[in-house]
Amino acid sequence: MAKVRTSYVCRDCGNVQPKWMGKCPDCGAWDALERFTERDAADGPAPGALDLGGPLGAAQSGVPGAARAAAARRAVPIAEVQPLDVPRIPSGIDEFDRVLGGGIVPGSVTLLGGDPGIGKSTLLLQAAAALAGRGRRVLYATSEESAAQVKLRADRLEGSGDGARGANLLLLAEPNLAVIAEEARRTRPDLLVLDSIQLVFRGDVDAPPGSLQQLRRCCLDLVSIAKTSGTAVAMVGHVTKEGDLAGPKLLEHLVDVVLAFEGDRHHAYRVVRAVKNRFGSTQEVGLFEMTGAGLTEVEEATLAPDAGGRATRPGSVFTPVLAGSRVLLAEVQALTATGFLGNAKRRASGLDAGRLAMLIAVLEKHGGLRLADQDIYASAVGGMRIAEPAADLAIALAVAGAFHDRGAGAATAAIGEISLSGDLRSVRQLELRVQAAVRRGANVLLVPRAQADAARVAARAMGPAAEVVAAAGIRDALDTLA
Ligand code: TYD
Ligand code: MG
Repeated sequence: MAKVRTSYVCRDCGNVQPKWMGKCPDCGAWDALERFTERDAADGPAPGALDLGGPLGAAQSGVPGAARAAAARRAVPIAEVQPLDVPRIPSGIDEFDRVLGGGIVPGSVTLLGGDPGIGKSTLLLQAAAALAGRGRRVLYATSEESAAQVKLRADRLEGSGDGARGANLLLLAEPNLAVIAEEARRTRPDLLVLDSIQLVFRGDVDAPPGSLQQLRRCCLDLVSIAKTSGTAVAMVGHVTKEGDLAGPKLLEHLVDVVLAFEGDRHHAYRVVRAVKNRFGSTQEVGLFEMTGAGLTEVEEATLAPDAGGRATRPGSVFTPVLAGSRVLLAEVQALTATGFLGNAKRRASGLDAGRLAMLIAVLEKHGGLRLADQDIYASAVGGMRIAEPAADLAIALAVAGAFHDRGAGAATAAIGEISLSGDLRSVRQLELRVQAAVRRGANVLLVPRAQADAARVAARAMGPAAEVVAAAGIRDALDTLA
């Protein structure tokens, strides 16, 4: 007899509590704990529950469950383990395939999260249409919009005409998972899209759609459908205010791939990032731009505004940042304005607020700037998000430049991490950064002194040598502002 365990899961942070409480002791959210019953896994699968068989279930490894279990019980030297040859279906949208690690893996389950209006439905519909155009069958189950609304969107999308109009892209406006599963069984698609998982429900689960019980049961069912039929499943998940997937860690643990769609709704640029990927790297990002005809892929070369040939602008500094295997030239901008002493505003957009505060402190202590009464706004241009310490120097120079009304030079790129003592630290992948900056038109490179020689070699390899300026610390760097 299976034991039934009851616990309480926080809707916001996903942490589990043994008893109900008004306030989640982990994240502090009020009235967020939800009752959750689960059968004890040790007693075998619950009725209707499914053999998940790990990331690659029996459907893919070709080993029946029992044999696999027996084989797995004996330890083998790692050298003798056969590498997995993961088959992939490329969608033809290169930026999307890149994040997935080369294409959609049959039988895999992917969760795509992101803010409302960021373009999740658009991305999945485009991928679906592209696959359909390549002769793959896609079942697009929409629980948020009507089939007519989805059709309207498909008609807007560039290049999706053939696939979308063809017979390979099937639309189903239905939130009931039993119906969706039945249609999937009948039509045997290569890809099943659910938009969104939050509105899908099972009639036999006594909880509203979007509740943890429903999310978990529906997700388990979908994982089972994927693993047994080989159909890849992609589902949209909404995110909470804090940017976590709603119904949080629960779903992330169950699926193979978690993608996050980031960017600013008010900016054109969108970044798809793999948060978890059982079949590939989580370093890669896909870059898109939202246009009137859907998402278009962004080439590295067009991401940043042209660095060359522009007049010096105080408060604006370029820096190359790593994004997976690529380097993007990002622009950091800052603005300072007189505020109230003791109550000065500090706002970061696309940058880490804590890092900005630290850099402001370093500028005060080691750069001689008086910023205590200054409101400071700093941002990464174009909706990009920069989390790398290697962008420290660019941020500090943007703030100092805005304050002194002095610019860093039109075609200057700044590279370097700043320590609390005001020294410039080496960055990783310097050569790649230097080359990307030069390729994008930078002809002056401000780098940490320890890496000056390496930067010169890298710059010279790019042709007519760009000038490399070395700085040991923040003081030297500030002297380069003109
Ligand atoms: P949508 O994909 O519906 O976002 P999500 O599913 O993440 O909520 O669309 C996002 C926004 O993009 C929407 O406000 C309209 C806009 N959009 C375009 O600008 N161009 C287009 O071709 C499409 C389809 C949408
Ligand atoms: Mg949507």
